[in-house]
Amino acid sequence: MSTRTYYVGRPNVVDRESFIQRVHDMLDRKWLTNDGPLVREFEERIQNYVGAKHAIAVNNATIGLELAIRALNLTGEVIVPSYTFIASAHSLRLQGITPVFADIDPVTHNLDPLSVEALITPRTTAIMGVHLWGRACNTESVQVLARKHSLRVIYDAAHAFGCSRQGRMIGTFGDCEVFSFHATKFLNSFEGGAITTDSDELAAQLRLIRNFGFIGFDKVVRLGTNAKMPEICAAMGLTSLESIGSLIATNRNHHALYQQELACLPGLNLINYDHAEKNNFQYIVIEIDNARCPVSRDALISVLHSNNIIARKYFWPGCHAMEPYRTEQPCAAQHLPCTELVADRVIVLPTGTDLQPADILFITSIIKAACASA
Ligand SMILES: Cc1ncc(COP(=O)(O)O)c(C=O)c1O
Repeated sequence: MSTRTYYVGRPNVVDRESFIQRVHDMLDRKWLTNDGPLVREFEERIQNYVGAKHAIAVNNATIGLELAIRALNLTGEVIVPSYTFIASAHSLRLQGITPVFADIDPVTHNLDPLSVEALITPRTTAIMGVHLWGRACNTESVQVLARKHSLRVIYDAAHAFGCSRQGRMIGTFGDCEVFSFHATKFLNSFEGGAITTDSDELAAQLRLIRNFGFIGFDKVVRLGTNAKMPEICAAMGLTSLESIGSLIATNRNHHALYQQELACLPGLNLINYDHAEKNNFQYIVIEIDNARCPVSRDALISVLHSNNIIARKYFWPGCHAMEPYRTEQPCAAQHLPCTELVADRVIVLPTGTDLQPADILFITSIIKAACASA
């Protein structure tokens, strides 16, 4: 048994010196928040990195989604996958919009366009896709549906900074995309997020809503909130962004080692990334086919936890099975068979800069032993 505990989503803390220098400069300037120079620089770097015309930094991705929903004036129903983190659904529901849960493709774990189309009604105003695990949604099919039914498109790109679809960076699709820079994410700013868009008009509205609707000191021109990113978060985000190449390399090597070690286990599938695309390899996701694997998903989680490896069942049991949706939409599961199948199979394992190859060999040895002894 290892003396240390392994967690999923342990933060990547890189280049302490550079971060501390930025904090010293910030303290000397005494400009701690309110559209400061670090936030502006972070926004510019994000824009350049993803190739979007605008990046609007916010204090987390959940509020980023809420801002996008308000700025696009969405109402009625919005179609969203159930197989996602609860924030995707809550960002809608908290603003009085009904999240209508679509099923996923069991291979990609992303929105199934056929399921989306079947759920479109006269009340539908948008589709919210999620690039789960950083693997891009089928953006072409979503765009076709959106055009056909005059719908807006928002992407929850919380997992997908640094990823691409057919060579085009995530951050440039739909009306806008929302990244998360939460501490557990690939690129972290403690808490934080950014909305990217090519629309000048949308960007202007997002900036207004982020700051209470203020223009200048005294004039408020619309309803808004406080979604501002503080300077210290931008300092962390900028420092992380400077190390993005080495973060990706570490994650890619970890994924390859997991792949090598877990290759031959029956009923256990490590999800892969398309190496023709850009990926951040932030998620080590295994699927346990309970009928073929000698150990069940839940039994394997117990074995891992008892060895201080805090593996997680993401995103079990699916948003539709959590409150308030479970009560409000009791029949939703009927059209979500693949969501339920995948949610019952997935385990997410630790990765990131906190791990060395020897740690991965230890984690995989526990999985192999659990399969062998079952
Ligand atoms: C798919 C997805 N969407 C949204 C969020 C919310 O991000 P944040 O914590 O920055 O609000 C997360 C966070 O884990 C997520 O995984």
